[in-house]
Amino acid sequence: MKRVLFVCLGNICRSPLAEGIFRDEIEKRGWAQDYTIDSAGTGAWHAGNKPDPRSIAVAESHHVSLEGQSARQLTQADFFDFELILGMDENNVRDIKAVCPAGATAQIDLFMRYAIGENTNIADPYYGGDDGFETAYRIIRKGADSLATRLGGSRPAPKQ
Ligand code: 4NP
Repeated sequence: MKRVLFVCLGNICRSPLAEGIFRDEIEKRGWAQDYTIDSAGTGAWHAGNKPDPRSIAVAESHHVSLEGQSARQLTQADFFDFELILGMDENNVRDIKAVCPAGATAQIDLFMRYAIGENTNIADPYYGGDDGFETAYRIIRKGADSLATRLGGSRPAPKQ
């Protein structure tokens, strides 16, 4: 089982999108049984809330569902339960590392660096307009496709 956790600040805008888009990439390859995919926030302000309506809308416009997601804060257990903890921007990576417990087994990295080898931040769209959500969607989609290829699955992906 491959276990991947996407992390941003609030877990209502970017990391829910990353969770939904990456799950879509994995499901279309037929690898759903090979993966545990989740998201969390370094902050707890929005714990229990659904994703931001603008994230839900941009996801739906691309036929991706964020149904069933609910914000939660990153926990100490996450550093042992997940193999890979991917921050959406460098501030997230710094904040994740700051609370990483001794002996943690998870690898921590910037999402786009791990996925495609570029130090690209997914900018926080929370205070901006809808175009910020579309931009986040497009960058995350590119990264999620590459991440799925990098991590692989237990059987060959069908040709697309
Ligand atoms: P996210 O966006 O980290 O992509 O979920 C934010 C959501 C809420 C806040 C900041 C960023 N906030 O300050 O409440």
